[in-house]
Amino acid sequence: MEEVRGSSSLTRSRHGGGSPARFLQAIAPYFGGKRRLLGQIMKAFPTPADAPVMIDAFLGGGSVSLMAKARGYRVVCNDVALRSAAIGRAFIANDHVTLSTADVTRLLLPRAIPDGPSDDVLPERHARFVRGAMDVALRLGGAKGALLTVLVIRYIMSLRPMGNFGAKAVMQQLSEGRWEEVNPAVLRDSFTRRIQSPPQTICEELIPKINAGVFANGHRNEAQQRDAFDFLSDVEGSVVYLDPPYGGTAAYERALRPLDEILAGRHIDPVPSEFSGRRSVEALDRLIEACRHIPRLVLSYGNAVLRPDELEALVAKHRHNVTVRTIRHAHLAAVSSAEKNATNLEVLVTGGRPR
Ligand SMILES: C[S@@+](CC[C@H](N)C(=O)[O-])C[C@H]1O[C@@H](n2cnc3c(N)ncnc32)[C@H](O)[C@@H]1O
Repeated sequence: MEEVRGSSSLTRSRHGGGSPARFLQAIAPYFGGKRRLLGQIMKAFPTPADAPVMIDAFLGGGSVSLMAKARGYRVVCNDVALRSAAIGRAFIANDHVTLSTADVTRLLLPRAIPDGPSDDVLPERHARFVRGAMDVALRLGGAKGALLTVLVIRYIMSLRPMGNFGAKAVMQQLSEGRWEEVNPAVLRDSFTRRIQSPPQTICEELIPKINAGVFANGHRNEAQQRDAFDFLSDVEGSVVYLDPPYGGTAAYERALRPLDEILAGRHIDPVPSEFSGRRSVEALDRLIEACRHIPRLVLSYGNAVLRPDELEALVAKHRHNVTVRTIRHAHLAAVSSAEKNATNLEVLVTGGRPR
């Protein structure tokens, strides 16, 4: 078993095409995102010449699929959640449609704004803008609708750094300009400046970043929105990347519920993924089995419920030639305590031919 330290060298350097990995600016900063681990993850993949079709069953923020697209794989990605499937439609399946300032101007035209569950998540002016923009995005559909959905996601995340949807009182204080009541640490935070910007300014700042994620790679790439087991039952490929929610960590459906509710325009009763629940190890076992028609496997996982050697044994039940690397990966202070960072490991497992 090999141990390495996490690094972001690949995201700062070149992705093989000779230009810096500018397209990664398009990625939403979801927790669980693999942007900082891309160097190690991509090294675990066979080359596109050996494995031309890469399957990403849990797209999340999209960094691994986007990097694989840039490297020349044909990418077929999937995520059950709209917040991620929209990223797949905007950046993986789409290779030429981009957002323009005219698209934003259209969003700002006066019209009826639907009611929706965003008022305690964002200050009023921004809440109205995202509700209206999401209404347009869903009506439009297609690549443009997906890009507008990503714009809404990035807009919301930029006002809620690291997707922190607690602190509802702060939103009200900011909304009503009750500055003296706001926690000084929050006031110092850079998002305070952003919260005072008009929607147009925020969009104009985000659009070039989002458009940087749109490019062609000569393949017909695909994005789906299904449960991973349905998706894996009929998808064909040469290598599958599995990055399910890790057992023993917070469920995405709960942590990102306010975002999901704004995107859906209605209240949602979150149903946590089976990969986050008490039966996470059993779900992981079935998941690895569900990939047996795909010749190679790369799995990202944490060490909260299984030690690296236990994970290795689990994959070895299903595949030959299993390798394991552990990566010490300090999460951002905003999402993890110092104590957790001391023990958090990212485990990267590869598996060859199915048994
Ligand atoms: C760890 S994240 C993936 C992170 C991603 N690789 C990245 O770099 O951003 C896990 C994702 O799995 C999705 N998910 C959870 N349960 C699922 C299921 N049953 N089927 C498909 N996707 C699921 C979640 O919506 C979440 O986006």
